Amino acid sequence: MRCICPPLARCSFVLILALRVVRLVAGGAVNRTIDDVRGDSATGALVQYLPQVPASSKMLWFNQTSCAGCADVPDASQTFDGTWTAALYQADIGSLSVTMKFTGTAIYVFFVVPNFLADSGLASSISCEFFVDSVAVGTFDHQSNGSGAFEYNSLVYQNVTLPDGDHVLLIETKGADAAIIIFDYAIYT
Ligand SMILES: *[C@@H]1O[C@H](CO)[C@@H](O)[C@H](O)[C@H]1NC(C)=O
Ligand SMILES: *[C@@H]1O[C@H](CO)[C@@H](O)[C@H](O)[C@H]1NC(C)=O
Ligand SMILES: *[C@@H]1O[C@H](CO)[C@@H](O)[C@H](O)[C@H]1NC(C)=O
Ligand SMILES: *[C@@H]1O[C@H](CO)[C@@H](O)[C@H](O)[C@H]1NC(C)=O
Repeated sequence: MRCICPPLARCSFVLILALRVVRLVAGGAVNRTIDDVRGDSATGALVQYLPQVPASSKMLWFNQTSCAGCADVPDASQTFDGTWTAALYQADIGSLSVTMKFTGTAIYVFFVVPNFLADSGLASSISCEFFVDSVAVGTFDHQSNGSGAFEYNSLVYQNVTLPDGDHVLLIETKGADAAIIIFDYAIYT
């Protein structure tokens, strides 16, 4: 038997289905990334690194490009977007920080965690504190196990209970001891 429903009806049925799919996608929670160098995948907002050091003085923040000649750096091909950003904190700096803004309900922060060899003379620890909207919410500490291996995609902080809205995440290292920080990316929901 031939279908008697007019083509227009079939068209609008397809349209209604399409609209439903769009609404489902828009209503569900989605993840976006904040890359250390390229910034927010949706807004393009960049990560802020402090202190900024004038070009004339010794470089403080390094990345896969600016540290091309350095030994013992992460393998960029194993990092998110092929980039990483690092700095060595020393007591005279006072405070070193990475700041990013996002709008959402959850944040996940990923570092590259180094384990420099004991005789390398490189910083053997990572020590930092996390602040959400200026409130201290957590810490991450790691002591090198001396293997020389980097741990990629290390989840160092997560918060899945944020009130929906605009937030500022600050990662800070301070104090008397030298420490390294290698930021790769963050994900927010
Ligand atoms: C977002 O990413 C985190 C970390 O990878 C994951 O645990 C979570 O399930 C993801 N959420 C969504 C909505 O995709
Ligand atoms: C890497 O670091 C250099 C020097 O700080 C900076 O000029 C450059 O914009 C950074 N970005 C990339 C893509 O590596
Ligand atoms: C997440 O952030 C909220 C709001 O700042 C805070 O109250 C809570 O302790 C945080 N949770 C974790 C696991 O850091
Ligand atoms: C040190 O850490 C690396 C990276 O997680 C791991 O692959 C290695 O097995 C560890 N070595 C020792 C001696 O604990």
